Parts: sequence; C-alpha cells; structure tokens
Amino acid sequence: MTSHRPATSLAREGPGGGDSAILRTEGLTMRFGGLAAVNDVSVAVPRGQIRAIIGPNGAGKSTFFNCITGVLRPTSGRIILNGEDLAGLPPNRVSHRGLARSYQITNILPGASVRENVRIAAQSRRHAWGLLRHHRAYGDLIDRARTVLASVGLGGKEDELAANLSHGEQRNLEIGIALATEPQLLCLDEPTAGMSVAETHATVELIRRIARNLTILIVEHDMEVVMGLAQAITVLHYGEVLAEGTPAEIQANSRVQEVYLKS
Ligand SMILES: Nc1ncnc2c1ncn2[C@@H]1O[C@H](COP(=O)(O)OP(=O)(O)O)[C@@H](O)[C@H]1O
Ligand SMILES: [Mg+2]
Repeated sequence: MTSHRPATSLAREGPGGGDSAILRTEGLTMRFGGLAAVNDVSVAVPRGQIRAIIGPNGAGKSTFFNCITGVLRPTSGRIILNGEDLAGLPPNRVSHRGLARSYQITNILPGASVRENVRIAAQSRRHAWGLLRHHRAYGDLIDRARTVLASVGLGGKEDELAANLSHGEQRNLEIGIALATEPQLLCLDEPTAGMSVAETHATVELIRRIARNLTILIVEHDMEVVMGLAQAITVLHYGEVLAEGTPAEIQANSRVQEVYLKS
C-alpha cells in the first residue's frame, strides 16, 4: 500500500520488510450529511511511537478518534490495528483488540474508590479473554490495579473515593482506567485540559513513563506538551491531513503556521 504511505515515511518498514505500523488508516472518511469531518485520511503509526494529532477546532480530531475507537462507523476507508481490519466493530470489541481510550469527558465512577475504578476496568479486560482460560483471581486484579495506580501517580490514593480526587488526579485516574485494560495502543483526548501548570508537567512525565511499553495517540491543544512529547505529529485541517512530520518539521512548516495564525 505504498500509495498510502505518508511522504515523510514515518511508518518505517520493520526488519524483513514487515509492516511496523500498529495502526494504519486508509482513506478514512466520516461524513455528517454534506460535511466531511474526516476526509480521506491515511496515517500509519509505528509501534512504540507517541503520535500527536493537532489542528484547529473543528478539524476532525475527535471524529478521527471516534472512528478508530468504534464509537462512529466511518463512511468509508479502512482502520487496521495489528494487521486486522476494525471496520464496523463496536467500542468494546475494539478495546478487546488492544486499543484503549481516555475520554475528554470523564469516564470515572465517582462513588467507587480509586482502586475499584481500576479493578473493574482490569476485570472487563479479563472477561474479554474468556473466563475459563484467563480468569484471574480477585487478588490478581487488585495487584494489577495497584501496579496501574502506581504508574499514574495515584499509589497513595487507592482507598480514596474517586469523587474526592482533584481534577488533575481524576484525569490521571482516567488514564489508569484505560491502562487497566492492557492496551497496546492508547488514545488520549486532551489529557492536560483544565490542569494547572504543575499538574500538566506531572502528566507529561506520566505519559512519557507509560509510553515505554505502549503506542500513544494524543490529541492536545497545549503546543508545549505536544512538542515535548510527540515523536511525530499529524496536522488535520478541515478533515484532511495538512502536514505530517517531526515536531521540528511541523514547527517549521509554513502551511501549518498559516493555519494556526488564522484561527
Ligand atoms: N455527530 C456529529 N454530527 C454532525 N457534525 C459533527 C458531529 N461531530 C462532529 N461534527 C462536525 O465535524 C467537524 C469536526 O468536528 P470534531 O471532530 O469534533 O473536531 P475537533 O475535535 O478537531 O475540534 C466539525 O465541523 C463538527 O461540527
Ligand atoms: Mg475535539
């Protein structure tokens, strides 16, 4: 599918000429009536990469996430995760294939403890694999929850009610809930929205830490966060890929500068 390969060749061929992309979209299009919110988008995200999706309001970023996570069924095009087509799968089946998403709008059970929030997510993952073959004892799920909570900096807050966490801590708990499903690809929709400067810095560190074992797709408005975290950036504009490249390439791109100055 060389014709769909981005010009910058961000998706390298793996050893032996294999495809190193964990996620690939081909001609992905989502129309709402006459509006093409996502228009013929072909991207390839190599395994292990932190890829940022940026673009002005209304560019199609959330719609792109909604398509790849199964929330929306695309009008046309293909979504390939680990070589398998995800087209038409509902969100829970997409999640079972190893793609998790932390929502911009909260996904947390406020009346449950921090530990329970993550434990329930870990359990849903296990059910997906079949209770008989992969059933984990309750204690194993608690261990998993503990590991995840430590990784998102909430190790000391396990018994706290989720409702009592600060806004920043709740956003990190959402990342923990997504991680508990043991994803290979994690989609983060504006993970630092509404955070203080200190919380933002801590979350950037958190994302960098968890990215060691994961591929991450991140939609983010804070350009400092994007430039500091992303290895590659895809710029959407009116539903189309305007540019793709390293942070340095994107910052130097005159078309990108124009779009951001105009908006
Ligand atoms: N469910 C929907 N029905 C109709 N139009 C939509 C819907 N969702 C998004 N849109 C439109 O699609 C375009 C892209 O929206 P969106 O993906 O939310 O952009 P972004 O996340 O980049 O701000 C916008 O013009 C928006 O109004
Ligand atoms: Mg959005």
